[in-house]
Parts: sequence; structure tokens; C-alpha cells
Amino acid sequence: MTFSVRQVPCRLRLGLLALAPILLLSTLFAFLPPDGLERAAWAQFIGRFHLLTVHFPIALILIAPVLEWAGRNPRFPYLRSSVDFLLALAMLSSLVAATLGWCLARSGGYSGRLVTQHMWGGVSVAAACWLCWLLRRYFRGPRLDFIYILALLAAVGLVSWTGYRGGQLSQGENHLTEQMPATLRKLIGFSVRSQILPRSNPAYFYGAYVEPIFVGHHCYSCHGPEKQKGRLRLDSYEALMHGGKDGPVVKAGNVKGSELFHRVTLSPSDDDAMPPQGKRPLASNEIKLLELWIAAGASSTLPANAIKDAPTTPEPVVAEVTFEEIDPAAVAQLRAPLAREVAQLKQRFPDLLDYESRGSANLVIDASALGARFGDDDFAAVKPLSEQIVIADLSGTAITDRSALLLAAMKRTRVLRLTNTKITDATVLALGGLDRLESLDLYGTSVTPACFKVVERLPKLRHLYAGATKIPADVPVSEDMKGKLLF
Ligand code: HEC
Repeated sequence: MTFSVRQVPCRLRLGLLALAPILLLSTLFAFLPPDGLERAAWAQFIGRFHLLTVHFPIALILIAPVLEWAGRNPRFPYLRSSVDFLLALAMLSSLVAATLGWCLARSGGYSGRLVTQHMWGGVSVAAACWLCWLLRRYFRGPRLDFIYILALLAAVGLVSWTGYRGGQLSQGENHLTEQMPATLRKLIGFSVRSQILPRSNPAYFYGAYVEPIFVGHHCYSCHGPEKQKGRLRLDSYEALMHGGKDGPVVKAGNVKGSELFHRVTLSPSDDDAMPPQGKRPLASNEIKLLELWIAAGASSTLPANAIKDAPTTPEPVVAEVTFEEIDPAAVAQLRAPLAREVAQLKQRFPDLLDYESRGSANLVIDASALGARFGDDDFAAVKPLSEQIVIADLSGTAITDRSALLLAAMKRTRVLRLTNTKITDATVLALGGLDRLESLDLYGTSVTPACFKVVERLPKLRHLYAGATKIPADVPVSEDMKGKLLF
């Protein structure tokens, strides 16, 4: 008996044919994933239609099980006869939507976990529709009926999950829970993990310097609303002063006797060190700030500028102007030229950047919370805004000397933190043009005294943090650098 194509049932043949575009698209996704670069405007233009087309397959997939179910009623058997067509249409339209989505992601500067998951979710939806369609007729039997129902439910689950990820991409990670009323939140036991925690008043030393250290080092992930390791919470002044399992961790005026200070000054390899092993230890200037604050009485209302020689990073976030003085129209006008870029960047990295104050167009970027997920290619996205950045914290990110040119272009930067990054002297040597730089933090990098050549000539520089670098503490320095070099 010879085998001929005609023996293969028509539906299977058609099914195999339909598999081709799914595989093709998967290959495209695998080899040309969104890489965060912006490309041709026409590709972006086509890509925008993703948002328009994407709802069509969603509706089709959701309605398929409804028709199957309602069609079981002897009064509406005809409803089921359209499901085949519906599934085929759902598959085709999800392929179209996924292709357009890929155009958008690939050309519009998207990258990262969310967009990758959303993208693969999209192809899986097409594949799930394909499977349902095939199972529905070709393999139909009493047992496979059950498998078909499972496949249909899987398709519904997949399309919901993919849609949710898409929502996170366009509306922010916590778009569904952001506005959830507190009572409902409590009812379903939903915590406030991804919420921005209320910030203390930055006019006070605690709000301006102490709290940002806990936030920046993610202490709240273990000492916050969700977990209270060592029975300690750090997410409010009161909780901090209340202390943990062994009583208060801050003793006003007594730095050495304060458990908090003890823990953050232990060697990072010590079992008791905070934050625990493997996490970025506090920088020397942060430790100094805690020390000064505790020594000065650890009050929550000590004015931000009360301690004269406090290291100035992070900068206190005191607003430049008062409410009455702000003219919204003037501010909007000031910000208009950058508005598009700022919005795009905010969409990609929701917490990366913000305006320095309500009344200015200056930008503050803080990538430290993104850690190793933020590299040179991600940083490249801020290029159009480089001249607007006045404070930049790239601590603990994956940036390297490849970002040197961009850093050098941030001509108005006053505070630059490159703590625990892979940058070397090469980057620092490129920073000669930053004539407004007041504070440069190179803690935990491999810079050497060779970088002094440029650093010495920065006219406004007041602090250079060089702890845990290849700069020895007893390095001979010029008259200019004396007092500026801190370890
Ligand atoms: C990955 C989880 C984790 C993170 C992040 C973390 N801690 Fe802890 N912390 C613990 C655990 C577990 C304990 C209790 C065990 C112990 O005593 O070492 C603790 C105990 C402490 C204590 C002592 C409490 C007491 O009463 O003895 C202090 C102070 C502390 N942490 C401060 C911090 C600070 C400040 C940060 C941020 C810079 C931080 N922790 C980040 C897990 C964490």
C-alpha cells in the first residue's frame, strides 16, 4: 500500500499548513527579540495598529466557550456550528496582532521581561487556537472531548494572562491594583508590595537622607508590610524606633550601641550583616549619614540641613519652589520639548525617572532598584534627555564603560552615583566636561588613582567617594583634592 497525500484528511492538511505561520513567527521572535532600540518610523506606525487589532482575537476566544456551552441547550444547537469558524478566525487574527505587536516592540524601544512574556503569550494564544480548532473536529471522540475543553480553557487562560501583561506594559505594572480600595485590599489579603510607600517629609533629615537609604537598599522587602524579619519593620519612623526582636535598633545619640549601625557596618560576608549577603552593601556615605543622624539624636524632625558636613548624596528632595509660585502653564511649556521622550521612558521603566521638582524640567534618574536588569542598552534610551539630567543614580546596575559617552553628555549633572558598577577609569576620564558635578560616587568600582587626572579638574566637585576601589586610602593627593576624597 502506498501512501498518498490524499489519504491525509483535509482538516489535518489544512492544520499543518496553518502551523507554518506560527512557527515562522516564533522563529522571528526567538532570533529578533525586542532589544530596546528605536527603529524606522514606518515600522512604529504599523506597530501602533497592534493596539487596534489585539482586541478582536481576545473577544473571539472568550466567546468560543460561551457558544459551546449555550449550544448544548437543545433550543440553540446552531450556536455550536460557528465555533469552528470562530476558532480559525481567532488564530488568524491573533497571528496578525502578534506580528504587529512584534513590529511595535521591535521598533518602539521596548525590552525586558514584560514585553518578552507578552510577546510569547501572543504566539501561544495563536497556537492554542490552532490546537482547539484541530481537536474540535478531527480528533473528536468522547474522551477527547474532555481534552478539547481543557484546550479551550487553556486558550482563555493564556489570552487573559497575555492581555494582563499587555496592560502592564502600557499602563504600568500595578495598573489593576493601583486604585483598589483599601477595604477590598484587606479583604483579599492583597499587600502593597508594588505600591509606592508614603515618603516622609524631605524637609527633615530623616525623610531626606535616612529613609531613602532603606528604600534604595530594599530593606522593606524583608522589614516591611509583607515580611518582618527579626520582627523589625523599617517602613516608618515609628516602626524603626520601636525596634525588633531584641528591642530598639536605634539608640539616640549612641551610634556604637545602635544595632542598626552595627548591622550595616559589619563586613558584608558576616552572617549578621545587613542587608544580607549577596545584596549591595551600604555605601560609605550612606553609613556616614546614618552615623551623623543617630549621633545628632535620631529625631524625625531634625531639619535636612541641620548637619553641616553631611555628605550630599543623595540630595535632599526639597522642592525648589512653593505651591503658590508654580505656574502650571509655564512648567508645561518648559517640559514640552521632552514630554514625549519622558513619557516613553516612563512607560518602559515606570520608576526610572522623575522631574526634580514640581516646578522644574530637570530630571532625576534612579536605576538602582533595577540592578543588573539595567544595562548599557537600557541606559542608551535616556540619550535624548541627557542634557536635562541633574541627578543620576546608576548604582548596582550592569552599565559598563560603553555608557561613558552618554554619561559625558549629561553636562548638567550635579550628583552621579556609579557605586558597584563595572565602570573603570576609562569612564571617569571621559567626565571632564561635567563642570557642574558636585558629588561623584565610585564606591565598589575598579577605578584607580589614574582617574584623578580628570577628577581634580572638575570645578564644582565637593565629594569623591572612593571606598572599596583600587584607590588606596593613603594615596597622595593634590591640595585641590584634600578633603574631597572620602572612603
Ligand atoms: C533578604 C531579607 C533581608 C533584607 C533585604 C534586609 N534584612 Fe535585616 N534582617 C533580616 C533577617 C532574617 C533578620 C533577623 C535575623 C538576624 O538577626 O540576623 C534581620 C535583622 C535585622 C536587624 C536586627 C533586628 C534585631 O532586632 O535584632 C536590623 C537592624 C536589620 N535587619 C536592618 C536591615 C537594614 C537596615 C536593611 C536594609 C539595608 C535590611 N535589614 C535588609 C533579613 C533582611
